[in-house]
Formats: sequence, structure tokens, C-alpha cells
Amino acid sequence: MDSNKRPDTMVRITTPELANAFIDEQVAAVKAQVGDKKVLLALSGGVDSSVVAALLIKAIGKQLVCVHVNHGLMRKGESEQVIEVFQNQLDANLIYIDATDRFLDLLAGVDAPEKKRKIIGGEFIKVFDEEASKLEGISFLAQGTIYPDILESDGVKAHHNVGGLPEDMQFELVEPVKLLYKDEVRVVGKALGLPAEMVDRQPFPGPGLGVRCLGAITRDRLNALRKADAILREEFDIAGLNQTVWQYFIAVPDMKSVGVKNDKRYEGWPAIIRAVNTTDAMSATIEEIPYALLHKITARITAEVEGINRVLYDLTPKPVGTIEWE
Ligand code: XMP
Repeated sequence: MDSNKRPDTMVRITTPELANAFIDEQVAAVKAQVGDKKVLLALSGGVDSSVVAALLIKAIGKQLVCVHVNHGLMRKGESEQVIEVFQNQLDANLIYIDATDRFLDLLAGVDAPEKKRKIIGGEFIKVFDEEASKLEGISFLAQGTIYPDILESDGVKAHHNVGGLPEDMQFELVEPVKLLYKDEVRVVGKALGLPAEMVDRQPFPGPGLGVRCLGAITRDRLNALRKADAILREEFDIAGLNQTVWQYFIAVPDMKSVGVKNDKRYEGWPAIIRAVNTTDAMSATIEEIPYALLHKITARITAEVEGINRVLYDLTPKPVGTIEWE
């Protein structure tokens, strides 16, 4: 039997009961596969790697070594949440690496989107590889591969992760959710006790805020973007739009306009809101955000975020625009 093919008889996991049965089954399978050996996992804090981490912690506890690489392009509070949930609450074996300077130094002055992606992906592999080589006795590599990854990219998680993982790593793979669809992974994550805001997260690209700080990334504009994005997410949470809108974020272009603040000329960047609905990300429509909410978000971002003096709403569907700006 092809272990990468979902059997036709496999029941769709839609309830906590079905999720618990799946968890019991996978815990036993992982224990049988791994024995008393150690397993390494790159834990980004995204849905898939978080669910795999929680599942493996249940199965093998401290035999799992999680590595969280902060590339400096995370959203506000993301790395902190990984540490809080996995280290503090689940008592995981977690190695946290703040590689912000490495990434931002390499990205300085680079404005071509695909070059930025390549640098971020390549550096991620390097940092992870360096860390892995310091560890002893690792025999397995766990991955958050899910069924669409297998269907879309020959089983390689790579193109939707930060560059994937080193190809020459000589580890046997542990991929406990590889036959599940995204909605099932979320049900399993909830059954494992992961917080809703982690399990129900909107999609976030591997290169993170790096492809939303448009053009050559600078630290001041990246910080402004991170703050504005946090305000947008907060206001969407309050309005309940986080439950219904597929993806929403801020992009900040490398361009300034003239404004006025405290009776003085104030040059700043615009914050561009993007909020789209889609089923497969191949095409997307625009969320009709209520004007009152747009006004509130605009007032907060321009008052609270240093460097931003305008807020714009991108009304372009896909096609003709892509979801991300670069
Ligand atoms: P586009 O911009 O192509 O985006 O309409 C479609 C979906 O893919 C996400 N996206 C990425 N995800 N690495 C990722 O992991 C990337 O380089 C990347 N680029 C776009 C985007 O956020 C949207 O959900």
C-alpha cells in the first residue's frame, strides 16, 4: 500500500471524538516508529508544525526536540506564543533561536521579491542545519506535511514552508498528519488542547512579513508594518471578522508621502490593508469591510504607528492582483 495515499475508506475527522481516535492511533504509531530515539522538528508556530509538535509531545515527550527559528519577519507576538505554549504550557524540549540580525543583515538592500524569498529560505535551512549539527543522537526528522502538500508538490513541504528543510539530512521522516486535510488538522489541534488562535490562524507565508515590507526591507519600516498589522488583527478580532475573512494583513511600500501631524509636515509611509476571501487561493474576492471599521483602523494606525501617515484599502481581486503584493 502506498503510505502517501489517503485510503478511500478513511473517515473525515470532523469531531473531537474522531480526532481523539486519530490521536490515539498516531501516538501508538509514533511510539512504535521512534522507540527511545530522538526526533527533531522545525516548529514555526504555524498550524501544521504546531499540531505535529503537540502530537509528538503526547507520544514521546522530551524525546522530541523542537527548534523555533525567529527570522525577524514574524508577526507581533508570534515567537512569544510559541515559547508560551510549547515551553511553558506543554513543557516541550524547545530550542529558541533569535536569528533576526542574520536575516535582516542579509536582506539589507535586496529589493527583488524572489531574491528576498531565496535568501530567507536559504538562511532558514542554514540556521536549522547548524542547530541540528550541534545536537547529538537525533535519528528522526518530524515534518508538518499535510495531504494537500502531497497532492500538490510530490510530498515536499518545501514550497509552502520557509524553503523546506535540508535535503541532505540523513534522518527518517515522521509525518503523523500527512494524510489529513487542513480542516482535520485544526480539529486534531483543538483536541490536543492547542489554543484556538494558534489552530484557527489565517495562512501566513513562510517568508513572513518579508514579502509585505515591500522592496528593500529596513528595520524601521518593518517595525511599522508589524505594529500596523497587529492593530488590524486586533480590530478584526473585536469585529469577529477573524472568524470569516480568509486572509487579512498590511503591506507597507517603500514610498513616502507628505502629511501633517501636530501642525507639522509629517512624511510617512502608507499602510495598505488587504483582506480577501477565497477557497483555494487561486482566485480571491475582496472583503467588504464596514466603513466605520475602516475609519477606526485608520485612526488607530495613524495615531499609534510611528512612520505611517496614510491608510489605504486595496480593492483588487485576484486576478488581477495576487493576494500578496510581492
Ligand atoms: P498569492 O500572492 O500568490 O498568494 O496570490 C496565494 C497564497 O500563498 C501565500 N504565499 C506564500 N506562502 N511562501 C508561502 O509559504 C511564499 O513565498 C508565499 N507567497 C504567497 C499567500 O499568503 C496566499 O495565502
